[in-house]
Amino acid sequence: MNGVAVTARHPPASATVTAPHPPRAARAPRMATASSEEPMVPDMNKRNTMNLLLAGAATTVALAALGPYTYFFVPKSAGGTGGGLAARDAAGSVLKAQPYLASHAAGSRELVLGLQGEATWLIVDTDKALEPFALNAVCTHLGCVVPWVPAENKFKCPCHGSQYDRNGKVIRGPAPLSLALEHVDVSGDGEIVLSSWKDEDFRTGEMPWWKF
Ligand code: FES
Repeated sequence: MNGVAVTARHPPASATVTAPHPPRAARAPRMATASSEEPMVPDMNKRNTMNLLLAGAATTVALAALGPYTYFFVPKSAGGTGGGLAARDAAGSVLKAQPYLASHAAGSRELVLGLQGEATWLIVDTDKALEPFALNAVCTHLGCVVPWVPAENKFKCPCHGSQYDRNGKVIRGPAPLSLALEHVDVSGDGEIVLSSWKDEDFRTGEMPWWKF
């Protein structure tokens, strides 16, 4: 064995490097003490109060959002006339009786937006008062809007020639039925209000054929 070099497989003990642990003073300081690390849980009374406040705020927001939406779909009250919808002109403005009568001649008929948003003839009688009935302008044949022809004192449908008298009673076909009636009233604040006509049809003595 003399003269044979011996290769050391392991570095000498002096070459081994042992990573020293950082000194305690070099570690990150711990800010919280054992007692301050406990979760901050409010007691039951405080939690109930907070829940009530949150629920109240959420309800207020929901009502504020739903209010106008609901109002849009609720029919306007007629104010003492038993319910109905305010008549509106072509621009969507509510019609009031006094200015309407001041600007319309006796015997005039004008189209307004009536029940179900349909074209409706509003009539001023010969005494310059509103007739207590209005006429749905939809022809009972195939649904054309029927114009008023003052020179002939009747309604004449341009589509297939049906005719109706001054009160909307059919006098010539092919329309099978008279124009539908709507009640006309004036609300407490002066609005012209239309409502369903469910009584006997004064033109025919029969009950209404229409369903609105
Ligand atoms: S739609 Fe009026 S007569 Fe036909």
